[in-house]
Amino acid sequence: MKDGQSNLHTGLTELGDVSPTVFREQLHQLADWIADYRETIGERPVGPNAKPGAILAALPAEPPEEGESFEKILTDIDRVIVPGLVHWGHPLFMGYFGWTTTAPGILGEIITAPLNVNAMTWRTSPAATELETLVIDWLRQWLHLPEEFDGVVYDTASVGIMHALAVAREQAAPSTRKLGLAGRADVPRFRIYTSDQAHSSVEKAAIALGLGEENVRRVPSDAEFRMEVTRLREMIAHDLREKFKPLAVVATVGTTSTASVDPIAEVVRICREQKMWLHIDGAYGAGLALLPECKWVTAGWSEADSIVANPHKMLFVPLDFSVLYVRDLERLRRVFTLVPEYLRGDTVEAEKNYMDYGIQLGRRFRALKAWMVFRTFGRAGMAARIRDHLRLANLLADWVKIDNRFELAAPVVMPVVCFRFVATDKKNSESVHESKIDMINSEIVERINASGRAYLTQTKLHGRTVLRIGFGNVLTTEQHLRKVWGLIQLTAGEIAGRADWPQSPSK
Ligand SMILES: Cc1ncc(COP(=O)(O)O)c(C=O)c1O
Repeated sequence: MKDGQSNLHTGLTELGDVSPTVFREQLHQLADWIADYRETIGERPVGPNAKPGAILAALPAEPPEEGESFEKILTDIDRVIVPGLVHWGHPLFMGYFGWTTTAPGILGEIITAPLNVNAMTWRTSPAATELETLVIDWLRQWLHLPEEFDGVVYDTASVGIMHALAVAREQAAPSTRKLGLAGRADVPRFRIYTSDQAHSSVEKAAIALGLGEENVRRVPSDAEFRMEVTRLREMIAHDLREKFKPLAVVATVGTTSTASVDPIAEVVRICREQKMWLHIDGAYGAGLALLPECKWVTAGWSEADSIVANPHKMLFVPLDFSVLYVRDLERLRRVFTLVPEYLRGDTVEAEKNYMDYGIQLGRRFRALKAWMVFRTFGRAGMAARIRDHLRLANLLADWVKIDNRFELAAPVVMPVVCFRFVATDKKNSESVHESKIDMINSEIVERINASGRAYLTQTKLHGRTVLRIGFGNVLTTEQHLRKVWGLIQLTAGEIAGRADWPQSPSK
């Protein structure tokens, strides 16, 4: 094989990459593959009913010694990988928060791949850095955050909260960056408060930062799953008496189970009184701020110390894209900036070097896909779609209310609906053991998901298992929702009608 020629199987040139001609053909083939996948996604099963290990068993365990052709690899993708996936972009995927696959997002990912730049410093990739700054500021404006908030893009909100609490920790225990926490007599035991509905990333951050999982105190929530501030006050007072140092409150806008919103304005007051850091977890719910009629959701945000928003949850940007905003971002830089000699030449002090704002050095060019999504839809386009998802959520809630065998388990605040099958008749549901009802609700979700006809999730609210549907997919229509609701009604009826279904706890 001479230079300029390529291997017949792989298209590779000698010691080089796939030849430009072959690569072009592969790309054209892939363009059709992607367009076909997207166009026909609704005709597939939403997910497989696979047994663990089935995918591995269908693939060679030995690594390839010689290169293989693109055709052969793509065949395996079609034969084994794609059927082995849950298709999160499927219009009948209604798990978690729905999903944010969009055409401009896909195009953004495709363009990012050949560029494959590293957005660690401004000099190593000026446009990636400046586009990140621009996109962060666009989103800041949409979230109605004041200019003193600046941000950084991470992969996920879990990483965002860890960095936010690292700044809180440094502020409360100066020099922790240098000295750590262990063995220091001058550092008290810190406490972090968050509601019993908050995401587990709060504990994960405490684990990673050496603050301790046990020092995350879960504040009870009220009947509508919002943090009870009177309980928060009591818990802080108790901890102060016990010589703990209250460090931070993590309040949530759009909790994971029900999308409830904590009373931020009241939490702000407590944080100011106690000189505590306020982090707002808006991973899901911050996106609602794009709707003028939902501006209420932003109450108190401008008083926070940090806030995280995940456009990959509500704002149509594909996974992953999360923005952490910190008031006076310089505080974050001071905790993490560290320039080794081998990077000094690529560090322009006057410019923003995003490696200074976190533990990661190498950084993907995530801003491009967000920029493409934001430009393609515009704020109004995104708001219109979220508004329609809210409409679908309220429609489902209405259907639940008029079917006597079901009840709503939480108010609909965002495009998330939690509800529960309560047996034959709401009024008589006490006659059936609650734990049996829990099992039926779980079984409804498991059966539907295993059937591949839709995908839902389940969660527990006040100790009871509930069904949960999240909207967020631009492909999901009212027709899809009708289909899923019919499926839920049918499946529930089948399970409840089974012979082994006891009619009362004593039977
Ligand atoms: C409210 C909330 N916060 C944080 C997270 C964590 O998000 P990520 O997966 O981006 O770490 C989630 C995930 O669902 C969430 O629902």
